[in-house]
Amino acid sequence: MAVGASPRDFALRTLAEVRQTLGCRWTALRVDASAAALFEVEVGTVLVSGNDNGVAEKLLTDAGVVDRAAVLGADLVVAPSRRENEAFGLLAAGERTCGDGAMSSCERSLVETAAGNLAVFLDNARLYRDLDRMFIGALSALVSTIDAKDPYTRGHSQRVALLSRSIAIAAGLSASEVKNIYISGLVHDVGKIGVPEQVLRKVGKLTETEYEQVKQHPEIGWRILRDIPQFAEILDGVRFHHERFDGAGYPLGLAGADIPIAARIIGIADTFDAMSSNRTYRAARGRREVLAEMSRLGGTQFDSLYLTHFLSLDLSAYDAINLWSNESTSDTGDASNLDAHDQDCDEPLSLDSLSRRDSRRAA
Ligand SMILES: [Fe+2]
Repeated sequence: MAVGASPRDFALRTLAEVRQTLGCRWTALRVDASAAALFEVEVGTVLVSGNDNGVAEKLLTDAGVVDRAAVLGADLVVAPSRRENEAFGLLAAGERTCGDGAMSSCERSLVETAAGNLAVFLDNARLYRDLDRMFIGALSALVSTIDAKDPYTRGHSQRVALLSRSIAIAAGLSASEVKNIYISGLVHDVGKIGVPEQVLRKVGKLTETEYEQVKQHPEIGWRILRDIPQFAEILDGVRFHHERFDGAGYPLGLAGADIPIAARIIGIADTFDAMSSNRTYRAARGRREVLAEMSRLGGTQFDSLYLTHFLSLDLSAYDAINLWSNESTSDTGDASNLDAHDQDCDEPLSLDSLSRRDSRRAA
């Protein structure tokens, strides 16, 4: 679903190409309301290619120029970037430095064509943005229904997606990798839909059979999504988010670099959120305790590189949505008083102090 260049990059490239083709000192685009959100700038911002000494902005913010949107003088062309009566901006080229400086009809047509092409691109970019939002919204709704199977994991997938994206950005991954990791984090536990609800919601200790059912969820999720071509890039994070760097995880027992990067990142985010949240079998742990435990697991449970990036994050955005989630589950009881069991789908830990902590395996 990618459209290649960002709207801003495409516009700047268009300005540069028009300027070079016409031999102008500058080209400029005044951004109208329909494009401002795509460019993430204020309405009326003027993007410039070349050296205009402030001339372009003065011309393009002048009401008379905007209203006329026509040829103004021999060495200046102003053309609306418009599609189906919707204005995205005003494209201008001025101060031609070659020949006698005058713009021919052919050169004026080039500016108008460039303005039209820019409008088509921006219209498509907006469509893509809207489709993308709808896609993410639909996925969020889907995973929310799955998280809701257990009130104590409400909002878990959203928080894991957010944290995973932040780690990926901190690690310097590409924009497409960051987006794939975010989506993968969002659906990482979709396989829980195949785990009996009474197992996910069980307050007491899981039996070995129940634990094996829980451990199936990465493979179930992978099987659910693998036939959707658009999900090809996010499958690894779903299938392998419970692998451990030392090879002691599941489902395949992959180790080190054999674990896809997305899965290594999601595993860190998943663990942090699980430890920081209330569960049926225990209350949320404090931030300092959680970070101290996780720091100790670099090179064993976690890839130290991505753990370092995680530990460098500002967690205020996470805290904001976590606060909402905890408030929404606060009427479900005091987790600290509930019997303990270890739901490894939410807490892929092998911490001495945490995992197997309630002698559940011995039960
Ligand atoms: Fe999981």
